[in-house]
Amino acid sequence: MKLLIDKLYKNHGLSREEFLLLLAKMSDKDVEYLFQKSSQVKLEHYADTVYMRGLIEFTNYCKQNCAYCGIRADNKKAERYRLSIDEILDICNTGYGLGFRTFVLQGGEDDSYTDDKMTTLIKSIKRTFSDCAITLSIGEKSRDSYQKYFDAGADRYLLRHETASPLLYKKLHPNMSLENRMRCLWDLKDIGFQVGAGFMVGLPGQTDNDLVDDLLFLKELKPHMVGIGPFIPHKDTPLGMEMGGTADKTLIMIALVRLLLPDVLLPSTTALGTIDPNGREKGLKAGANVVMPNLSPISVRSKYSLYDGKICTDDEAIKCLKCMGQRIKNAGFSVDMSRGDHKDWRNL
Ligand code: SAM
Ligand code: FES
Repeated sequence: MKLLIDKLYKNHGLSREEFLLLLAKMSDKDVEYLFQKSSQVKLEHYADTVYMRGLIEFTNYCKQNCAYCGIRADNKKAERYRLSIDEILDICNTGYGLGFRTFVLQGGEDDSYTDDKMTTLIKSIKRTFSDCAITLSIGEKSRDSYQKYFDAGADRYLLRHETASPLLYKKLHPNMSLENRMRCLWDLKDIGFQVGAGFMVGLPGQTDNDLVDDLLFLKELKPHMVGIGPFIPHKDTPLGMEMGGTADKTLIMIALVRLLLPDVLLPSTTALGTIDPNGREKGLKAGANVVMPNLSPISVRSKYSLYDGKICTDDEAIKCLKCMGQRIKNAGFSVDMSRGDHKDWRNL
């Protein structure tokens, strides 16, 4: 297995059969070696730094019905909210004061946030906080809409592909298609966004072969960012009684992606921190280099309930930042509050 890990380290790629062999046969010692290699690559590209992004969950209205997601349209128990432009600007103001230079605006697919409203929001943020990057994460839109957001000043777009396995994708996403999700990602890249794809680990019915689909798709897309987190059940969804993904498997996938796309921006996710109290630190040690403390007002935090047990729903932004900063330092890394653009983009 070590030879295969060395090959991945050297060539930044493996065949489907080789990935399958790795996933099936790695011993604990091999996994340790994999993490050594992935953290070495992370150090080569980003030294010991960890980028901080301020996450603003501005609406939990969603017209989609992803089977795993706690804010899916059919979950009538979800208490819905949306923040106004003024509320979002206030949050950015607080975040800016704390040192954040990236704001991630995330939400369900909420049509009341029209393109006009989104572009007004983006322009207002950019006008006031011109040295900040704006990342959008608001789902599938037309190319035309994406272009409008980009022209208004948005810099990055996160749209996890969720799973690159066509069958699994179909089962989990009623009235959606993997084809359209991928179309969105290619359009976003073509327009000039720094693009984030990504997937969940441990989805019901997901096999190693499906996870290799994810790796091979990422190798083809070459996104600037990759979000990887475990699936965690939410009690008010059709998958509420299923088993969730494990931290161990999620960490292996993070490490493999670090070797596959050496300079990719790779968050250590809240979902990983939810299933393991030291999950985010372990993610950083496996090769992740980004964390996204929550800046949303406490009054709405618990309403953005994607899965059960989500952490960090009670603490003020400043407390979240301090807590994450301390955890990062304790894990042997240093905090970087700058915009943290992807290297290719910085060199344009
Ligand atoms: N609507 C946007 C989109 O489709 O990209 C962004 C919001 S969506 C809630 C953000 C991410 O949450 C999804 O990409 C998905 O991977 C993750 N997510 C949703 N439900 C989850 C669950 N039960 N467990 C783990 N992650 C989940
Ligand atoms: Fe829309 Fe989850 S189903 S954000």
